[in-house]
Amino acid sequence: MPRRIPHTETEVITGKETTEEYLEMQKRIGRFYLKRFLRILADQGKSGRFLEIGSGPGYQTAKVAEKYPKTEIVAVEPSADMITIAKSYLEQKGLSDRVRFVEGLVEDEALIKDLGRFDLIYSSFSLHHWKNLVKAFQNLYQALKEDGVLLIYDLERHWLTYYLPFIRRGIVESVRASYIPEEISSIMAKLNIQNYQVQRHFPYLSILARKGAGSNLSS
Ligand SMILES: C[S@@+](CC[C@H](N)C(=O)[O-])C[C@H]1O[C@@H](n2cnc3c(N)ncnc32)[C@H](O)[C@@H]1O
Repeated sequence: MPRRIPHTETEVITGKETTEEYLEMQKRIGRFYLKRFLRILADQGKSGRFLEIGSGPGYQTAKVAEKYPKTEIVAVEPSADMITIAKSYLEQKGLSDRVRFVEGLVEDEALIKDLGRFDLIYSSFSLHHWKNLVKAFQNLYQALKEDGVLLIYDLERHWLTYYLPFIRRGIVESVRASYIPEEISSIMAKLNIQNYQVQRHFPYLSILARKGAGSNLSS
């Protein structure tokens, strides 16, 4: 398997134009690339308090808020520009009363701890940006309520997409910065998290972990 190359540019996506373009891209193709992620999330049958990590311009935040009308969502995102776009998108959709955006990083232990406990923690296409996976997974696992579920969805670093010459440069960089199942398993082993599964859905990867012994994971 080709080695992992972390993103060279800043991990936090900023700039009014770039963030607006990202939302437009999500509106065009989000229903395709987020389809399986949203289905796995629905399969967990959760409601209550949700924590989203790396919410970007908020397209999938709005989808989740629409689907779960009784749910409160806290969305952590390090880019102030992304948060500005996301807030206005959620307002347009009439969903802003149930979504709170917090500027920060998943690795920030004090920040994540301060947000309380959650029934479901999820993230799409942000994992490959994270600088410290052990810290991030530790923070998120601790923020789960008993029986809470963690769902992380991202690209998989796969030789087929790693070498593709014709996809956009940014996407190739993201593929090269993403993980393989064995790397995720070694993080889980370090943290002694046992009730988890990593599944391949080429070209994507899902990671599901549940707090509490003896519970089944649905993917
Ligand atoms: C590729 S975008 C994904 C946006 C959206 N979740 C989606 O599915 O399209 C990755 C997002 O993760 C954010 N991010 C980067 N590093 C992060 C970190 N350490 N903690 C939390 N979010 C991070 C970026 O600012 C960006 O908004």
